[in-house]
Amino acid sequence: WALFADDIEAILELKRSRNAVILAHNYQTPEIFHCISDIVGDSLALAREAQTVEADVIVMAGVHFMAETAKLLNPTKTVLMPDMDAGCSLAESITPADVRLLRERYPGVPVVTYVNTSAAVKAESDVCCTSGNARRIVEGLGSDRVIMIPDEFLAQNIAKETGIRMITWAGHCEVHERFTPEEIRRLRAENPGIVVLAHPECPPEVVAEADFAGSTAHMSDFVSSGKAAKVVLITECSMSDNLAVQHPTVEFVRPCNLCPHMKRITLPAIRRSLETMSHEVTIEPGLAVRARQAVDRMLAF
Ligand code: 13P
Ligand code: SF4
Repeated sequence: WALFADDIEAILELKRSRNAVILAHNYQTPEIFHCISDIVGDSLALAREAQTVEADVIVMAGVHFMAETAKLLNPTKTVLMPDMDAGCSLAESITPADVRLLRERYPGVPVVTYVNTSAAVKAESDVCCTSGNARRIVEGLGSDRVIMIPDEFLAQNIAKETGIRMITWAGHCEVHERFTPEEIRRLRAENPGIVVLAHPECPPEVVAEADFAGSTAHMSDFVSSGKAAKVVLITECSMSDNLAVQHPTVEFVRPCNLCPHMKRITLPAIRRSLETMSHEVTIEPGLAVRARQAVDRMLAF
């Protein structure tokens, strides 16, 4: 605590003087998640909550696409990223030109784009989704074939659940692609009775070994339901750290993978961001209108 106290106090004061709120993703470290954030959650919750922020400034304790989504949904606010290099391997895997080519190759097939993409890619899409609503969105389209980009594994996992044919893209989350079925089998052998929760960005053969698959919010809800005394979350490391604070009676087994992008966001980076009012996230207005349509359609589902 002593290590963090100075930054935490400074950030709390800066939030007041700048009229700012901090939105934090579930993968942020506990001192950010529990000590300075106003709104925490999965990608879907952060998008929903960003719409109704009344403060002048939104600091995104997350990655760049999340800050862009907040700006799309609440464009009059100043949206700050503490570190502009906090990207995402999925967002980097695809360009707007790639989406246009897919549309040419598969005319009339709806394009469902994961929120883990740039605003420019969203602008080429019909509707966005997150891991928390992907199934609902895909089923709601009423099409027997969907272009689901850029997360190949999420698309394969949703195809398995829904029976809908997916045209996929070879994008992967560099955190979740590292988990293996062997790792889960070993965990079960070493921890009899353990409940395995996996994120749907994991490869399908990993999800097949799990007891439950869902977004970070769904995993959090599962743990809060009290159904499991001992769990392992097959996802980013801070997820278990944050939940362990809230659920001291649940045992967390913690093999995990770190997201280097999420970990660029630190207390000193957030403090500097509020002190200097940088780095401001902006989106070209014409592009923002088109990108927002895809996000709005998702939120309307
Ligand atoms: P969710 O919090 O929406 O499950 O997303 C996980 C993730 O990897 C965000 O970058
Ligand atoms: Fe992207 Fe994966 Fe990191 Fe989430 S955890 S920001 S999907 S690389």
